[in-house]
Amino acid sequence: MARRPPPDRLRRARAADAAALARLERRAFVGCYAAHRFSAAQFAAYLARPATLAHVVEQSGRIVAYALGVQGGGSRARGARLYSIAVAPTARRRALGRRLLRAFLAAVRRRGCERASLEVAATNRAAIALFTGHGFVPVRRLPAYYSATTAAIRMRRQLRAAGRRRAPRRR
Ligand SMILES: CC(C)(COP(=O)(O)OP(=O)(O)OC[C@H]1O[C@@H](n2cnc3c(N)ncnc32)[C@H](O)[C@@H]1OP(=O)(O)O)[C@@H](O)C(=O)NCCC(=O)NCCS
Repeated sequence: MARRPPPDRLRRARAADAAALARLERRAFVGCYAAHRFSAAQFAAYLARPATLAHVVEQSGRIVAYALGVQGGGSRARGARLYSIAVAPTARRRALGRRLLRAFLAAVRRRGCERASLEVAATNRAAIALFTGHGFVPVRRLPAYYSATTAAIRMRRQLRAAGRRRAPRRR
């Protein structure tokens, strides 16, 4: 009988994940993204900040995908930015990117943010399709963002009407 693949486990990222995340980063981000990879030290710094919203997916105890973003500070506290989402090349097209993006958006909502934004390379069809499928719309083109020849598209998703607060909970 064929053995079932091990189940994927989605959980919050923690400080001890920094080195594994940096290894995944090197496998996942190539081409124009290579110069923009996070190091283990950068992951560790983000994971120590309360504003960070980060999740990983593990298979057999090994991290194969992650998403990391931050809730904006100060007057931008009502917005959140997705900095990075990546799935190991061997684990793609199995809905892990979708699960992580949904987990990020759910966390952003729980923090009471009104919108989420991100930048993606204009050439990255897979990621643009993922984000568009989850309600993100392009709001701006940023020329020469990832390299001299690679523009970014800034995308945004409104999560609730600006200024509208969550209804108080009934007791
Ligand atoms: C973009 C990325 C995160 C998608 O992860 P994934 O787990 O393979 O994606 P999923 O299986 O969850 O797919 C969800 C949707 O994304 C889109 N998508 C994913 N891969 C795609 C591809 N190769 N071509 C076209 N659309 C694609 C589709 O709309 C898909 O929905 P569908 O399955 O109903 O067609 C993954 O390709 C990746 O890690 N890329 C390298 C890192 C990167 O570019 N990150 C984004 C930087 S902003």
